[in-house]
Amino acid sequence: MLNQQNLTVNAAGHLAIAGVDALELAGRYGTPLYVLDEDMVRARMALYVRAMKEHLPAGSRPCYASKALCCKALCRMAQEEGMGLDVVSSGELYTALAADFPPEDICFHGNAKTEEDIHYAVSGGVGFIAADGEEELERIDRIAGALGVKQKVLLRVTPGIDPHTFAAVNTGVVDVKFGVPIPTGQALAVTERALGLQNICLAGFHCHIGSQIFEPGPFLLEVDVLTAFLAEVRERTGYTAPVLNLGGGFAVAYEEADGVPDCAGMIAAIGERLTQRCGEYTYPAPAVLMEPGRGIVAAAGVTLYTVQNVKTVPGGRCYAAVDGGMGDNPRYALYGSRYTALVADRAAEEKTHAVTLAGRCCESGDLIGEGVPLQEPHTGDTVAVLVTGAYNYSMASNYNRVPRPPIAALRGGESRLIVRRETLRDVAMFDL
Ligand SMILES: Cc1ncc(COP(=O)(O)O)c(C=O)c1O
Repeated sequence: MLNQQNLTVNAAGHLAIAGVDALELAGRYGTPLYVLDEDMVRARMALYVRAMKEHLPAGSRPCYASKALCCKALCRMAQEEGMGLDVVSSGELYTALAADFPPEDICFHGNAKTEEDIHYAVSGGVGFIAADGEEELERIDRIAGALGVKQKVLLRVTPGIDPHTFAAVNTGVVDVKFGVPIPTGQALAVTERALGLQNICLAGFHCHIGSQIFEPGPFLLEVDVLTAFLAEVRERTGYTAPVLNLGGGFAVAYEEADGVPDCAGMIAAIGERLTQRCGEYTYPAPAVLMEPGRGIVAAAGVTLYTVQNVKTVPGGRCYAAVDGGMGDNPRYALYGSRYTALVADRAAEEKTHAVTLAGRCCESGDLIGEGVPLQEPHTGDTVAVLVTGAYNYSMASNYNRVPRPPIAALRGGESRLIVRRETLRDVAMFDL
């Protein structure tokens, strides 16, 4: 099953997640249900922390990109495992602070931060704000000045690299909504401006080239472009950057054919290239921050649904309609993202059918997948969709006023809820 050791088939023939029977979980908490293997999340966090400590300059560390899955429990896990945190909204920052995450270990992102966002981040004491451009730098400077703070800032730059990933998650090219381009000369000009602002301390630069990157190549190119830029900035201004944030983007395997990316190996290669380039430019190696999101939580997540009905259209497709869909996992509807699924009740049986997994929303595009290899589905079956830990709960909505599912975390063979199920009352709670 996707080469994931935490997914097994138990004596009853059921899918077991980290040793816990999926049908038992579905019975205990109801469906749809997000299941998160907390032991796996923590192991992934520890792996990134270790690899970055081993292969990158002193002070380097990963910051969990909470956009992948944000709730208080995840913030606590990140802190306990020694990670910093990347937040991209006041809502994510609020969640982190409510979980007592140390603000100095938080980097606040966003390409269109509001006055209120910046005020909240600066007064909340965040370690860094990743500024998206000149206007924002000036706004941070003004707000920090009013609050009597000298705010550490990373300037987000775009290197003009195409990591050849999916267009919706490709952010390294010049013509994107994020950051200030290096190739056009704008990044250098904005750096000069940043260095002249009184209430800002330019701590370095940030860059995120995209997601689902399987090979080190695009990251190495990112290091090449950024170190050349650092050297150019130093030559023009005398400024040396202590911090370089290389963003996230480590890929995960959604389907058997994807293969399992070697993230520790990629980090080692990044470290080697950084040392080489800094040596060539005689540049003091900056502390590196990276922001893995998907790479931490995606594979640890499984969503359980109950099949509500099955129909086969003569000459057409076999549909299994489940009690969730685009409300809890919009990624197929948004991006056409493919998933691996199985019938948890008969997990060892051969997958004989190509099934269109249909969601419950009143929208023909509400599908979890088309032509998904699956055991023959029956009404009442529990279907498990794998690798749903990232960008599922965090992208979920109440479309059609369907309450969002809870998250059950598994640790040491025990389960507990870390997010409760929404109720019908919750769905109408903002209505006046
Ligand atoms: C600035 C930034 N950092 C980190 C990430 C996390 O990327 P991933 O989940 O692919 O690791 C993203 C994703 O959009 C991002 O925009």
